[in-house]
Amino acid sequence: MFRFRRYRALVVCAFVITVLLYHVSKNSQWDHSREMWHPGPKSRPQRPLDNQPNPDLGAAGKVPHGVKAPTKTQAPPKTTQAATVPDRKLPSHHDGSPKRPVVGDSAAEQQDGDAAPTSTAIHWKKPKEWFPIPEQELIMLPTGTPKRVPTIQFAFPKESPADKEKREERLAKIKAEAKRAWYGYRKYAWTHDELTPVTKGARNPFCGWAATMVDSLDTLWIMGLKDEFEEAVEAVKDIDFTTTPWRDDIPVFETIIRYLGGLIGAYDVTGRDPKYRSLLDKAVELAEILMSVFDTPNRLPILYYSWKPEFNVNPKRASTSAGVAELGSMSMEFTRLAQLTGKHKYYDAIARITDAFEDLQNRKGATAIPGIFPENLDASGCNRTAARLQKQAAQNQADDTLWQRSLAGGSGSGQDPAVAYDVQPNAEPGSGDSHPLRKRLPPQRYPASFRSSGLPEGWDCVPQNLTGSSSYASGAGSYSMGGSQDSAYEYFPKQYLLLGGLVPKYRTMHEKTVDAVKEYLLFRPMAEGDPDVLFSAKAYSSDGTTKQLSYQWEVTHLTCFLGGMFGLGGKIFDRPDDVEIGKKLADGCVWAYDVMPTGIMPEYATVLPCRDMVNCKYDEKEWYRALDPNYDMRDRQAAEYYEKLDQWKKQEEKWNKEQALQKQAAEQGRRSEADKEAAARAAGRSEQPAADAAEDAQQRPESGFQKRDVDANGAPVEKQWVLPPKPVKPESHLEYVTAKIKREHIPSGFVSLNDKRYILRPEAIESVWYMYRITGDKSWQEKGWRMFEAVIRATSTEVGHSAIHDVAVTDSKPKLDDSMESFWLAETLKYFYLLFETPDVISLDEWVLNTEAHPFRRPT
Ligand SMILES: *[C@@H]1O[C@H](CO)[C@@H](O)[C@H](O)[C@H]1NC(C)=O
Ligand SMILES: *[C@@H]1O[C@H](CO)[C@@H](O)[C@H](O)[C@H]1NC(C)=O
Repeated sequence: MFRFRRYRALVVCAFVITVLLYHVSKNSQWDHSREMWHPGPKSRPQRPLDNQPNPDLGAAGKVPHGVKAPTKTQAPPKTTQAATVPDRKLPSHHDGSPKRPVVGDSAAEQQDGDAAPTSTAIHWKKPKEWFPIPEQELIMLPTGTPKRVPTIQFAFPKESPADKEKREERLAKIKAEAKRAWYGYRKYAWTHDELTPVTKGARNPFCGWAATMVDSLDTLWIMGLKDEFEEAVEAVKDIDFTTTPWRDDIPVFETIIRYLGGLIGAYDVTGRDPKYRSLLDKAVELAEILMSVFDTPNRLPILYYSWKPEFNVNPKRASTSAGVAELGSMSMEFTRLAQLTGKHKYYDAIARITDAFEDLQNRKGATAIPGIFPENLDASGCNRTAARLQKQAAQNQADDTLWQRSLAGGSGSGQDPAVAYDVQPNAEPGSGDSHPLRKRLPPQRYPASFRSSGLPEGWDCVPQNLTGSSSYASGAGSYSMGGSQDSAYEYFPKQYLLLGGLVPKYRTMHEKTVDAVKEYLLFRPMAEGDPDVLFSAKAYSSDGTTKQLSYQWEVTHLTCFLGGMFGLGGKIFDRPDDVEIGKKLADGCVWAYDVMPTGIMPEYATVLPCRDMVNCKYDEKEWYRALDPNYDMRDRQAAEYYEKLDQWKKQEEKWNKEQALQKQAAEQGRRSEADKEAAARAAGRSEQPAADAAEDAQQRPESGFQKRDVDANGAPVEKQWVLPPKPVKPESHLEYVTAKIKREHIPSGFVSLNDKRYILRPEAIESVWYMYRITGDKSWQEKGWRMFEAVIRATSTEVGHSAIHDVAVTDSKPKLDDSMESFWLAETLKYFYLLFETPDVISLDEWVLNTEAHPFRRPT
């Protein structure tokens, strides 16, 4: 007993020390990178589905890191207020004559009036490199003659004059809309990131480096707007990528696909004309800043780069929770830059990411659905679990020693360890083996890896390869082709093309992905008319395998790129089945546009899947039940209603009798009142309470009657018995569903319209365009034209086009969200335009487009 007591005290001590050490180690070892201080996972959808960093600096002058992770629950994240926060208004002297330079110029910012940022003086400086790659270890661009890749585009026949006329008419309409949006931007938001198309102001969610201007360059060129292009090229020269008053961190993924891709694409479409060399120079300027994000122990990139010198003193690690797309969608831009500059370091940077993805795809047990990656990845390169276990083991050893010493003497008190640490109560206290902490873990050596001279204290780390982030390790894993995933997969076949087929792993990785998508994610919706279309679901694995997958049958705009990917990959890798699937995927999004009241697909919805992909007959009853999972209860309640009504009628009868009785009594009472009062006064006391009680007892009704002593305001009222309200006939399942469908304008087959916005996204028209160029089938042009007309009808403003709040409204023009993202001009309008251009313009056999629709020249 005596020994037992001492032992308890020691265990408590050991536990406290362990906890303390764990916290200390957490702070010293894991959080050098500011990145890790960001709240929550950093992954973001390909497009800012959830929110934009709030560009309104406000009085505090701080840019919040309000980046929400894409949700894993049914409802996608709603947009935050950011979309509606009015940005700084441009001064009234903005009369259409572009004012420059503005970006990053503090004098100009001051002119702009309110909330002028004060931090413009700080510039990025190249920080010390902690983990440089020796020149001889750089992964080099592949050399050799590009492989022959099968032709992608349909062999278009000569078109008839009538077809040509119709096509060119449409082309002109699209160009007119693009010009309107461009001139709106030029007049009201020049040199800022985005036009706010309703309030005629500007926003700066992407560091204020003129995102729309850079993103639109190649679109202007392709549409033959040469004067506008020249003017923008001049203005781009003044962008200063080394500073921004708008953000503390550079969103790396968005910066690469929009700015870097935009500059490279624009330079490429000019035929690499030396006259526009400044575009390439600008791309290099930006890339040199971005190269710092790869300076981590495992060379996996930081995704939100704190660019200010004060934040770049210590070494950094990549995030423990990175979105697949953000990690995987840098390859094309850096590859093309390496090709254009001959600098292998740009290629090396992304080749290492590809290798990590390849390893993850092939490593046994690393992903529940082989071929697809878990949605959130731990790119830190450090195995926290292993580190924690080792710390604990080390602590146990120390504790053990302490304990051995204490056996010689010392006092003991405290809790029973069996209770405190949840060990088996029958463990023999005092025996070495029963020590609750020591028993768990064998001591381990702590390997000094990733050691580089001069690293701060605590930079030891148990290395690990790219892996699912801890949410996955603890059993939860989700897999999809949607937001925050998409473009990583999109880039496998595109990289293959850009590298002239000389790096076969991109083909293998694509094929593995596509096979897994076909096996685990594709589904057909069940809806009126039995549309023969496909969508890609989100799957959850609860046990890290495919044995227990559960599904979210989602229909999301971001996933609409998938048709194009299947079509492109199917052509270049000679997989005709994939092309057929690509058509059905593209048609899925066309269907989702067509059935909505505005003719535009929502951002995020769910549908009812077919049980059988081939034989799927629409079953309205099943759809209704999906819309009303409580159908059972509802119908039961409807049946019960008549019973309740019967009961109530009986009560009502009683009630009526009661009323009559009371009336009688009241009359009698009134007559005798005067006599009573006189008697009471004579007796000098009141007999009222006793009388009341007697009355109560006598009149207590059967159940169903309620006594009411006070009114709604708590004031006493004359006592009376009330009849319960007559039962209301509840909605039957059928009534409920019919009303819901009517009220919410739910098209057949849809189960929920979780996010009803349309934010000018391109993915649906992108896939339609791929299908047109691949198949030559003119019906794709008709589908695209329907989309165009619907989108223009719903989104047009006086000076441009705006995101809309609800695609499921019938009565009026949808509410406008006052946002025109740069991808509207960079992608959506470009794809609409190219759908009606002659097929030799940006032919897929000569060009490959990045995920922001910037065309890069393929090697010949
Ligand atoms: C980690 O990835 C590399 C390739 O990037 C591979 O060679 C190595 O075997 C992997 N290590 C583990 C433990 O899987
Ligand atoms: C991390 O370490 C633990 C414990 O040693 C091990 O089980 C796990 O496989 C490691 N994870 C990775 C991704 O290497």
